[in-house]
Amino acid sequence: MAETIKVNSPNVVYTPEYIEAKYTYHTTQVACDSGCYVVTPRSTEFVFRTERRVPRLGVMLVGWGGNNGSTVTASVIANYLGLTWPTKEGMKEANYLGSLMQSSVVSLGTGEEGDVYVPFRNLLPMVHPNDIVFDGWDISSMDLASAMERACVLDWGLQQQLKPHMAAMRPRPSIYRPDFIAANQFDRADNVLTGTAAQQLEQLRCDIRDFRSKSDVDKVILLWTANTERFALLQPGVSDTADNLLRAIQHDEKEISPSTLFAVASILEGCPYINGSPQNTFVPGLVELAIRHDVPLAGDDFKSGQTKLKSVLVDYLISAGLKPVSIVSYNHLGNNDGKNLSSTKQFNSKEISKSSVVNDMVSSNRIMFRPGEHPDHCIVIKYVPYVGDSKRAMDEYTSEIMMGGHNTIVIHNTCEDSLLASPLILDLVILAELCTRIKLRAIGTNEEFEPFHPVLSILAYLCKAPMVPQGAPVVNALFSQRACIENIMKHCTQLYCRPLEWAY
Ligand code: NAI
Repeated sequence: MAETIKVNSPNVVYTPEYIEAKYTYHTTQVACDSGCYVVTPRSTEFVFRTERRVPRLGVMLVGWGGNNGSTVTASVIANYLGLTWPTKEGMKEANYLGSLMQSSVVSLGTGEEGDVYVPFRNLLPMVHPNDIVFDGWDISSMDLASAMERACVLDWGLQQQLKPHMAAMRPRPSIYRPDFIAANQFDRADNVLTGTAAQQLEQLRCDIRDFRSKSDVDKVILLWTANTERFALLQPGVSDTADNLLRAIQHDEKEISPSTLFAVASILEGCPYINGSPQNTFVPGLVELAIRHDVPLAGDDFKSGQTKLKSVLVDYLISAGLKPVSIVSYNHLGNNDGKNLSSTKQFNSKEISKSSVVNDMVSSNRIMFRPGEHPDHCIVIKYVPYVGDSKRAMDEYTSEIMMGGHNTIVIHNTCEDSLLASPLILDLVILAELCTRIKLRAIGTNEEFEPFHPVLSILAYLCKAPMVPQGAPVVNALFSQRACIENIMKHCTQLYCRPLEWAY
């Protein structure tokens, strides 16, 4: 299989620095006039410019010593070293299954022997996960080799090979505000920053600069994979504007969450910030700060298992004309994430994030659902230590079908949580980095190339509760989200795309 792609078209120009491609974006404007929808096709010409040089990427994980943090670090090292290890089912080898970029393919067109598919990662120049340099923070001081052992995720034979490579990795001290995560996390908090919020913010900024200079990386991205926090209260004068947020930090305001402080540090250091958990890190003032500094944000909450399936299944039901009326999702898990979520306020953050996933699909169909009507949607999460990282997810979907009939689908999914989340972490940082190298210009109206909006809705595929720019539609349906990534990447080299359902 060929590794690189070159598009043979006068509308695609390759220079040593850039790939530039002309693209015509077709949309339709709809107006309602005296009971009739009047639809006006529109088209805008863009030039997409992609910087070709792939930087050396550094990723700083908040919650580095957790199950996800230690698993993703270990997996990258195992892939880099090409490790293999024995199990009772035979030898296994390191891979990146579950990663959209590394393990799924897209159609390039038709060749002599039929359709030609290429790995997603080959569409544009992008960072390879093996080349990512990791660093990070944790309120637990445990080194990464011991953290990997504590996580009980990877096979023992693999752990033994990885330990020498991870023992010297130690998380930096982090911000611990006991009120934001469950009280049951207190025991592991032995690696915490003291001082005021302003001093802690300054320390995080120093940490980012320290990592950047010592590891010699060109770009740094921060990603929160620490415990789920409770929602922060949105107080006027504290988190409502960028200036108020910065002032409130100086005043050591207690309602600013650790995750928001990390995001502020990231923005002020010019580093994209990704939120892998459900809490409302991105308070209005934080989003305003990111827009002011033109620093990308993405989130919220990894869409790894149950919710990913839900965003496929409900899309199928509603687009098939079947009316989902009851969706009930039970989970039990026994890892530290489950322990944290056994506390009510932290569970509430997760419940909100998991519940929002069907809303856009429901509200799109006015034949089935009157305004304000939606299916009963119930989420239950229980902590069962014995099952460890091997999460159970049980879902029951009941739909109304023709003439008063019912259709009930029941699903039982057992899956190792951190092995689903780790490839998403890699996709998130690799795509976020790529987004910083793509700029576009509308021909005729705009002479300057502009970056994407700082709120990276293109990463919605990877997020349970996708954040979008103010006023933009939220799309949860999984294959529309995938098409969005694929199409935008294809616009950059003018490859044929399926119709694009939403703008960027
Ligand atoms: P974990 O509990 O194993 O790891 C979290 C780590 O964060 C712990 O090591 C903890 O000491 C650390 N921590 C807590 N507060 C911190 C702070 N203020 N600063 C720095 N470190 C802090 O949890 P796991 O399984 O790794 O999950 C991480 C997050 O990802 C959770 O919020 C979870 O809800 C979210 N998530 C996980 C998914 C998955 O694993 N499939 C899917 C969706 C979201």
